Amino acid sequence: MTKGLLHLSLLLVSAYSFSPLVASVAKPKNNDAPQQHIEQIVREKLERIALGYDNSIDSTTKTIDMEIELSEKTERCLLQSTGVNERWMLLSEKTRIKRESVRDCLAANNMVVQRLLMGWETTDQTKNSPLFQRIDFIPTNKDEDCSLMGNGGVTDVQMKETEGYDTAQQVITHTARDWTSASSSCRDATNGWIINAIVRHCTGMDELRVLVPGSGLCRLAYDISTCEHLGNSGTDVIVEANDSSVTMAFAAKSVLELVHEQAVAKIFPFVSDPQRNEIYSAKRFEMQVFPDENALAAYRNFYSIKKACPDLTYTVGDFSSTYSHESKRGIYNVVATSFFIDTATNIYEYIFIMKHLLQNDKSSIWVNCGPVQWHPCAMLRPTVDELKDILQACGFQLITWEIADEAVAYRHPDDFAPSNARYTREEGYRPLRFVACLNDFDTADDLQERIEYVDYLNEIANGKVKE
Ligand SMILES: C[S@@+](CC[C@H](N)C(=O)[O-])C[C@H]1O[C@@H](n2cnc3c(N)ncnc32)[C@H](O)[C@@H]1O
Repeated sequence: MTKGLLHLSLLLVSAYSFSPLVASVAKPKNNDAPQQHIEQIVREKLERIALGYDNSIDSTTKTIDMEIELSEKTERCLLQSTGVNERWMLLSEKTRIKRESVRDCLAANNMVVQRLLMGWETTDQTKNSPLFQRIDFIPTNKDEDCSLMGNGGVTDVQMKETEGYDTAQQVITHTARDWTSASSSCRDATNGWIINAIVRHCTGMDELRVLVPGSGLCRLAYDISTCEHLGNSGTDVIVEANDSSVTMAFAAKSVLELVHEQAVAKIFPFVSDPQRNEIYSAKRFEMQVFPDENALAAYRNFYSIKKACPDLTYTVGDFSSTYSHESKRGIYNVVATSFFIDTATNIYEYIFIMKHLLQNDKSSIWVNCGPVQWHPCAMLRPTVDELKDILQACGFQLITWEIADEAVAYRHPDDFAPSNARYTREEGYRPLRFVACLNDFDTADDLQERIEYVDYLNEIANGKVKE
């Protein structure tokens, strides 16, 4: 099939048939939150975050104006007598030029943010249609309103929109990490390692059900769902992405729509980086295109072979409350975690839920790649060697266990690079990589209640409730 014909046939498949969103919401007992209520909360949240980015452009340019004025006055005071004629050498002049670039780049990013977070608002039809294909309410024993979709790694749910993942800036960072060709080496070292492990252990299976908790912008889940090697070996791959951030989930859905439409957009991932440690002023304004050609080609290839979209769904909700549910017992062949385990408030919860999720056979695996950079919410913070013992004590057999020899940047190779470095300070990780299967298949029948009880213990320990 030619690329044009393929494009047309892809468009004929409804965008909604690819990567539908499901919400999983914890509900206190005696509270009947209707679906519209949840939809309204999510719409308002997305609007608030998108508008927040728009408003932040003004404050950024005001700060630059202040810098121009101050540097100009300082130069007049200190340099006038030296008779500097080359204005281009002065900071005021450089900052003035920079201001224009900052404005242009922020305006372009703003268009991306509005499109990724507010795409559902573009036509009257989409504006009024439900955001979620389905909302699952998880009954809890709690009396008062609990957090809608978990704490997402921060200590207080209220901070998700400032310190957590529910921000426009996180969307930009993760779009660059997940969907630009410049960041492919960062993904190869992390997502690539996970996919190779899945291929090594699971090739030849008829059907593979994969869960990717903490999916973020969804590239790992997408790459597993379109994995050529698994597809060619006749395996039907069914992937469920999960994240507690609605911002991440909606942005991921919008990027997947671009993939589906075979369209691209421009982004300036570094323009809002802190003004410190920078080596070259021009690097702040580097432009990237997303989704990258590999992602677009993977979709075309998949479609031309299977005559269908990849089987990929996205569930927005807290990992612990959603996946400790009885209905999730033993339904996945693979759980794949990338930069996720360190978001646990109490790592024992995550470990027991992983056990609960995997099918009761030795071929089902948990594949992990990421640091143990415990997030602010973490109340237990084991080291890698402590974690190894805990996993084995909890009934996992460790098939592979290693720390990567080389550190890798999370967002872009130049953030951690021997040459062409972006900063005078490097940021890279030497991820813990493991493949584990179950040694003992014993999980509690009442896991959800136990997890709720551990949540209660966490709250006592952090002083939020009294014993
Ligand atoms: C460091 S990011 C990793 C994203 C992606 N896996 C990657 O490798 O780029 C961690 C992700 O986990 C999500 N997260 C944090 N706590 C979570 C929870 N309790 N349940 C589900 N997702 C969670 C965050 O919203 C964020 O998207």
